[in-house]
Amino acid sequence: MDTEVSALTFHLRTRREMSKVAARWEEAAVAVRLRDKAKSATLIFGNGDARDLDHAAELAEQSGVDGVMLGRAVFGNPWLFNREVKLSELSVAERLRVMLEHACVYEKLYGQSRRFVNMRKHFTSYVLGMPNASELRAKLTQADTAEQAYEAVKGSLADGFHDDCDFAAFRAEVVRSAPVHPNADNDYERIRRKAGELMAASASQDSHTVSPT
Ligand SMILES: Cc1cc2nc3c(=O)[nH]c(=O)nc-3n(C[C@H](O)[C@H](O)[C@H](O)COP(=O)(O)O)c2cc1C
Repeated sequence: MDTEVSALTFHLRTRREMSKVAARWEEAAVAVRLRDKAKSATLIFGNGDARDLDHAAELAEQSGVDGVMLGRAVFGNPWLFNREVKLSELSVAERLRVMLEHACVYEKLYGQSRRFVNMRKHFTSYVLGMPNASELRAKLTQADTAEQAYEAVKGSLADGFHDDCDFAAFRAEVVRSAPVHPNADNDYERIRRKAGELMAASASQDSHTVSPT
């Protein structure tokens, strides 16, 4: 290739392994060594199992990568990238309020569709470690809308959420201020289609390269 790649992220596991085995951070160090040997300016990022910013910094230090991607660690903890906030120091009400904000933004982006099911795994992560987590989780996993999620947790919310009226106002404000592009949903469908095409193309290429003769 003639073009220098700006940045490469290594998932440090194979697609088939998903997240079932530990990420091989030693392979990130190999990539860094190869990059340095080739005197390339490509940035190398590593991804897999980083728990928080400090852990990510540690992994970067040990492997020599230029950056670290965090995935699952952000589930239920959108404060992950803010060093000034510790999840354990936040009140249950604040965490649930942000969970509902997330649900409202999600609805704004995707509409009240079946895809709301995808929000449920986030609910499970948001309530993790809360005193009444299992009760909240049981109710939240039935929710099909942000409003139903609110109904499920309203007993655990503090000031600002005393009745349905408050939720309607809250949702209206979130929807008004959320930076979601009006065509985002269309973009999402377009990207999904494109991703599907690319996956199909890569699968047929794979079958060419690995098929036994
Ligand atoms: C719900 C979910 C969806 C993911 N979707 C993709 C994907 O579409 N493409 C991809 O390359 N990796 C995907 N991944 C893998 C992540 O990008 C990441 O490599 C993986 O979660 C390991 O990083 P982590 O330990 O920080 O979560 C997904 C992971 C999760 C949990």
